[in-house]
Amino acid sequence: MALQERQEPDVYQENFEPTSYLEYYRMNQDPIGDEVLHFLLKHYNATFKPGGLEGKLLIDIGSGPTIYQFLSACESFQEIIATDYTDKNLQELEKWLKKMPGAFDWSPVVKYVCELEGNRDKWAEKEERVRRAVTQVLKCDVLKERPLEPAVLPPADGLISSLCLEAACPTPQACRDALRHLRTLLRPGGHLVLSGGFETTFFMVGDKRFSTLPLNEKFLREALQEAGFIIEKLEKVTRAAETHLDNRSDYTGLFFLVARRGD
Ligand SMILES: C[S@@+](CC[C@H](N)C(=O)[O-])C[C@H]1O[C@@H](n2cnc3c(N)ncnc32)[C@H](O)[C@@H]1O
Repeated sequence: MALQERQEPDVYQENFEPTSYLEYYRMNQDPIGDEVLHFLLKHYNATFKPGGLEGKLLIDIGSGPTIYQFLSACESFQEIIATDYTDKNLQELEKWLKKMPGAFDWSPVVKYVCELEGNRDKWAEKEERVRRAVTQVLKCDVLKERPLEPAVLPPADGLISSLCLEAACPTPQACRDALRHLRTLLRPGGHLVLSGGFETTFFMVGDKRFSTLPLNEKFLREALQEAGFIIEKLEKVTRAAETHLDNRSDYTGLFFLVARRGD
């Protein structure tokens, strides 16, 4: 059976409601979202600041309906390609990129990143910069040998992916394979910036429950090495006490890593 033929119901296409998911990202109104944003945005900022990672093409894998992951990267990469598995997520992204009615209001998050970068009053320009940088929004399936087919792209200088592999991969082997698939999208020496939750078995989107693959540091280190990556940095944080009672997900911590394609 071809890898991409799935026997289980297509839960993301059927049940993942982008507008419900975006509720996590209402800054200062959702403790889980705030914890994720504070951690990831700090490390994206450190990774893409002047003197950090830069290049021509950056591909984001499993973007979902979110753009927070582009806010620092758009300063150091000329072109960003957003991707996701579901049509609804791609439509929701287009809505924001094209300033369509009903688009999510990312401005509190954009202002927060501008503050991290020491430029809070430039947030409207930052939004325009992201809109210019994101040139394409493509379908993606990390379980396929060629995750972006039928699209044909030049090898990327960088890949980012947040909170996607644990959602997309049903087994540890599928996750090892997905890392191998992602490697083919990068140029030799290019960087993968990967982040997610530790030990997560599920998360809720509205009233829909999504099972996830529990990841830990040992597994990530082994799987990345096996897929041909060299880890240059791995940051982690333990889940904060304030979010422990929130039963919309059971992650125990978060990680953010930068790995180089090792050839
Ligand atoms: C928890 S969301 C993360 C979204 C976003 N990256 C973020 O940081 O909030 C997981 C995403 O993985 C996507 N996904 C699920 N299966 C996938 C697959 N096989 N290939 C690529 N993405 C997939 C879902 O559509 C969803 O957008």
